[in-house]
Amino acid sequence: MLTNDILQYIYAGLFTIAWVFGLYEVEVIASGEPGLSALNVSLAASTLFLLGTVLLLGPLSRLFNRFDWALKYRKELGIMSFFTGFTHVYLVMFPLAPNGPWGLYQARPLSAYPGLEALIVLFVLFAISNRYATLALGAKLWWQIQYWGARLAFALIAFHMIVLKQKIIVSWLIPGNVPMTPGEVHYPPLVIWEAQFVLLILVIRLSELFGVKAARIITIVMSLSVVLMMAWAMFLR
Ligand code: HEM
Repeated sequence: MLTNDILQYIYAGLFTIAWVFGLYEVEVIASGEPGLSALNVSLAASTLFLLGTVLLLGPLSRLFNRFDWALKYRKELGIMSFFTGFTHVYLVMFPLAPNGPWGLYQARPLSAYPGLEALIVLFVLFAISNRYATLALGAKLWWQIQYWGARLAFALIAFHMIVLKQKIIVSWLIPGNVPMTPGEVHYPPLVIWEAQFVLLILVIRLSELFGVKAARIITIVMSLSVVLMMAWAMFLR
């Protein structure tokens, strides 16, 4: 019989696979180009979404009881984000690297190095995600490393993504900047969803500074705003 621990890894793994293939489909629709490059973008985006979910589960379960059941998956989702992040870095440094493994570090150091640092942080968190490391470090230090490590990795990934894709993000924010065919649904590139998600997490986490009641309202309003913003981007702009 499968133990609960193993089941949790299986569920987190299935959830991750669903994200990677779901986002792959979105990227293919948005770019019109199926293949390794779209898979790479979906792996990168999945890493951001998985780690972001890990960071969101805390405040969401504090604000709304219905998210309590998901809290126990934080460790497994964090570990999955290391694997998706690792595969993204492997793809950009080897099969998808026209100028060799270090070409990007020379051409785009401001985004490539923070990306690499994020992967190193995720690796450290992965390496200590076991009983032996918890015992060796002590529960308090272990928890502090996990707590700050996840936040640092997320900030580095968000920075990496924004520096790399700032032109696309800005062009989607300005009405009239993206050419539209009337009557056609326009699918924003994945990075627009990612940028919205980063903003959502930032606002929800900061909202707790204003007390539980205000945080609940801010969370609901912000989530609705993101949905409306994406609807506007797809159908109305
Ligand atoms: C854990 C580490 C990393 C994470 C989570 C990560 C995440 C991301 C994200 C979210 C994007 C935007 C995807 C999109 O366009 O929707 C991206 C794009 C990209 N990243 Fe990373 N990244 C990491 C490390 C790196 C490293 C170390 C490099 C360079 C060696 C790198 C190179 C790239 C490139 C070239 C793109 C553009 C891909 C494309 O548009 O086809 N990343 N990454």
